[in-house]
Amino acid sequence: MCGIVGYVGGQSALDVVVAGLKRLEYRGYDSSGVAVLADGGLAAGKKAGKLVNLEKELVGRPLPAGATGIGHTRWATHGGPTDANAHPHLDNAGRVAVVHNGIIENFAVLRDELAERGHELVSETDTEVVAHLLAESFSSCGDLAESMRLVCRRLEGAFTLVAVHADEPDVVVGARRNSPLVVGVGGGEAFLASDVAAFIAHTRSAIELGQDQVVELRRDEGGSGGVGGAAGVSVTVTDFHGAPAEVRSYRIDWDASAAEKGGYDYFMLKEIAEQPKAVADTLLGRIDSGGSLTLDEVRIPDSVLREVDKVVVVACGTAFHAGMIAKLAIEHWTRIPCETELASEFRYRDPILDSRTLVIAISQSGETMDTLMALRHAREQGAKVLAICNTNGSTISRESDAVLYTHAGPEVAVASTKAFLTQLVACYLVALYLAQVRGSKWGDEVRGVVRELSAISGEVERVLETMEPVRELARSLARKNTVLFLGRHVGYPVALEGALKLKELAYMHAEGFAAGELKHGPIALIEDDLPVVVVVPSPRGRSVLHDKIVSNMQEIRARGARTIVIAEEGDEAVVPYADHLIRIPATPTLLQPLVSTVPLQVFACELATARGNEVDQPRNLAKSVTVE
Ligand code: F6R
Repeated sequence: MCGIVGYVGGQSALDVVVAGLKRLEYRGYDSSGVAVLADGGLAAGKKAGKLVNLEKELVGRPLPAGATGIGHTRWATHGGPTDANAHPHLDNAGRVAVVHNGIIENFAVLRDELAERGHELVSETDTEVVAHLLAESFSSCGDLAESMRLVCRRLEGAFTLVAVHADEPDVVVGARRNSPLVVGVGGGEAFLASDVAAFIAHTRSAIELGQDQVVELRRDEGGSGGVGGAAGVSVTVTDFHGAPAEVRSYRIDWDASAAEKGGYDYFMLKEIAEQPKAVADTLLGRIDSGGSLTLDEVRIPDSVLREVDKVVVVACGTAFHAGMIAKLAIEHWTRIPCETELASEFRYRDPILDSRTLVIAISQSGETMDTLMALRHAREQGAKVLAICNTNGSTISRESDAVLYTHAGPEVAVASTKAFLTQLVACYLVALYLAQVRGSKWGDEVRGVVRELSAISGEVERVLETMEPVRELARSLARKNTVLFLGRHVGYPVALEGALKLKELAYMHAEGFAAGELKHGPIALIEDDLPVVVVVPSPRGRSVLHDKIVSNMQEIRARGARTIVIAEEGDEAVVPYADHLIRIPATPTLLQPLVSTVPLQVFACELATARGNEVDQPRNLAKSVTVE
């Protein structure tokens, strides 16, 4: 939530910052703003609405050229999306500018204190207090990094802050607590950003920041580069009390083109198309020459995994749906009881956890606050936490006992697609690995599933080649108000995922149900010509499941529903009950979501486009949800 960029170097800070914000706009797009240090002063511009509004504003009212600057794209928490509430926020003298992601919980007390001391605050945000507090501290210590440390010690809540001061024109300072911030360094320049996508076009050398740390980027011509810096710029990291912190540098393995649309109209379309590769990449290096699994990254010893007597999966939204499928795979292949729980609910019910519980936290961004809090709670109770994560160096991956990275590459569209499929692959890998280590499946059985998993990327490709009728169907339904989704077993989470995609993109009433539940209430919703998507399990798996869903189709059709049936090739039993039939390749029962989800992604994307909605940036949403 909220995208932040800071820059010190030799180029136009405005150009670098605005280009960085474009790459971070997926994080929030209620308003945006920039501040640049130039000519001994500070100049800022900000505007409600999308970044394009700010760009227009800057054409009409250009800022002076400078090589130090900060920027922000906002997802509103405190105060509506207005010009006044847009970041950066300045102190009364206009010498300090600050941008912020997160929530400062004690802002009301701080604001009252500032008002008593004569400060005039002009926005409804929690952020503005920080600009005023920084200005006060700076006037006594004359050092922006030290001011930031002093201020951070007074703040409660979660925050990333990035600030500049007109009296230190070569410096940008950042701080983080429970909210993301990474440093990029290279070529005499340094960057701060919520996500590496903001600076990947300039450098692939990054530095991770830990919790409760302050970082100072300083233009330092002729300097050695300082801790983690490079010639021409120094990077200094301390804790909130000024003690030097150890830094970990790493190389970003995404290239700049991965964060571009690459000829597609939307990132979402590109990301849907990238799924075969993302699935294959997530398997890379995890299968040995004999076809068994080698998950070296899972640094939890096999002896500990053998002792696990319960697995709990925690995640939110789409990642939660991946977790629901993980439960079915884990229980089936390992016979270990597994629960999947919404991360936002998990710790509040006082879950029963101990050292024999394995908690799997699934998160694309690695920054989702609900999931982070759930895993912290689990670790406090002595459970081991394995993260399935797409973002190197993210907070969730750093705070877990082990991480299995999904290799989806950057996912920019707010609606998750390729991350979901790779999360599924990672869940299958974990489930099979547990089965391998514990011997709950024979080696040849594990190798058999691994072979089937390795073939899935090609099947996803095949599904993508047959999507034109799905797009046509989606366009024909653009004026409908409601679409229901039904599934059983692994098809149930897929139904929920199909409904979630449609809600967030098309802003339609879309609901997913376990097909068996229909007669317990939701069947009352069925009326003439209501589109109902039915995800049919493989008839080659548990035939009873298949037969039951065929009955469910008959029940809803008898009441007027228009059925849109997703069924595997060769499943003829569904034909008489399908008003529209979407074929998917035959796969093993548990792996079907890897192919059955794809048409639902395409369906939602096309329907949203037909309704004239913004596909990559749906209203009210942000990609990385860093508040609880
Ligand atoms: C839906 C979507 C969200 C995320 C959820 C968790 O398309 O993208 O539901 O799946 O906010 O995000 P991560 O995976 O980053 O923890």
